[in-house]
Amino acid sequence: MADARPFHWEYRPEPITREIFRVEGGRPLLGIVPISGAKNAALKLLAAAVLTGERCRFENVPEIEDVRVMAETLADLGVLVEHPAPNIYEIASGDVEWLFVPLEAAARMRASFMLLGPLLTRFGRVIISNPGGDRIGRRPVDLHVDAMRALGADIEYRNGYYFATSPGRLRGADVTFPLVSVMGTENAMLAATLASGKTTIRPAAQEPEVDDLIAFLQAMGAAVSRTSPDTIEVEGRRRLRGASHRVVPDRIEAGTFAVAAAVTGGRVTLEGSRPEHLPAFLDVLDRCGVQFATGQDSITIDATTVGPGMFRPCAIETGPYPGLATDLQPPLCVLLTQADGRSTIHETIFEDRLEWMSALRRMGARISIHGGHEATIAGPARLHGAETEIGDLRAGASLILAALAAEGTSTIHGAHHVQRGYENIERKFLDLGARIERLEEGTVSTTS
Ligand code: EPZ
Repeated sequence: MADARPFHWEYRPEPITREIFRVEGGRPLLGIVPISGAKNAALKLLAAAVLTGERCRFENVPEIEDVRVMAETLADLGVLVEHPAPNIYEIASGDVEWLFVPLEAAARMRASFMLLGPLLTRFGRVIISNPGGDRIGRRPVDLHVDAMRALGADIEYRNGYYFATSPGRLRGADVTFPLVSVMGTENAMLAATLASGKTTIRPAAQEPEVDDLIAFLQAMGAAVSRTSPDTIEVEGRRRLRGASHRVVPDRIEAGTFAVAAAVTGGRVTLEGSRPEHLPAFLDVLDRCGVQFATGQDSITIDATTVGPGMFRPCAIETGPYPGLATDLQPPLCVLLTQADGRSTIHETIFEDRLEWMSALRRMGARISIHGGHEATIAGPARLHGAETEIGDLRAGASLILAALAAEGTSTIHGAHHVQRGYENIERKFLDLGARIERLEEGTVSTTS
């Protein structure tokens, strides 16, 4: 007999204190780093649990701020959220009391918009705030809204909120996107699982996190499958059942630590990473001459012989999966500062994802930025410690990589941005031999 007491999410928001990372660079990273569950899978899996009133259990959920925000947002809807142990969440959305996703959630996390599809298709109505997200471009949600309208929803936009209703069940449709959108694909897919009839989504995003979500939906009894590389088909069902799922490893965290090993001249094994999820990234490492070996669920980077200053320059261009992940462009820019020659970067997904490199320049990197999409990096550059400010999640992690490679000590403001998406990042770096500490603004370092 389940415990009769209702489980309620006792969320104690982590105070956003002004925190800094203090990093002393110049030490090779050595050892094994466990790769956590993928942020960009976990957030959608938690949202998908709303498609059923039955209990869903998730393992390998990363302990990061964005997951806590999603859990709090679900709890505020009246969804029962239980966090019985680290990296485990259980969700039961029996009768959701309040179909309103507030500005506060959306402003803190763009992925809160993933609740549009599941709430609309299950309950027939939702009021949801236009989301915020990282400072890497406008990042509209028009494709999500168009997909819901294609599935028969009425959506009005007023004063920062979308008022969405669906008279009766949503209706299956051909959803065609003008460009590949990861969460657009996922929102449409979730909405289609309870619609009446068949839905075809194309071009559907091909990221591994999308396939992780498909696997969970299938475990729930949804009739969803990827019928060709860029096509997802769904046959709507009236109800879905609860299910359990283990979150796929985070390929972006794996790539971030791979670059950390390379730029510090270290040797690191990324335990639990899936090489097959990083085809374009590993191709860049290969072209740059970074030595690595792959196992079934591990990647070992060895830069103890071919290290910083000896890497080959190369041209990188981001693109939808299986192209090079835009989230790995900032870490790779740090690697290219240590290549012997001139490298070029073409960022095709977001228009403001190169701005952060002005901070990298202050650490000694030789970078020219040409508009919002192109940059050139001349190397090798001897990086030196500096005081910098983080603007977004991936740029923040990349400033840590640069600080680890630099000579001297760096102070990086805005540590909370990194906590959004990397589980225990400073502990993981410490365990690899880095000198890093997270401090509140204004405190004196214990190691200085
Ligand atoms: C997801 O964002 C990821 N976030 C991003 O990771 C990732 O960088 C991005 O996909 C691209 O791979 C999560 O999964 C939570 P898109 P998403 O829709 O889905 C435009 C990180 O650091 N667009 O694939 O929001 C958009 O502006 C984050 O973990 C519209 O025009 O990205 C972009 O140019 C950063 N209208 C392009 O499509 C829309 O309605 C692709 O964006 C939606 C998107």
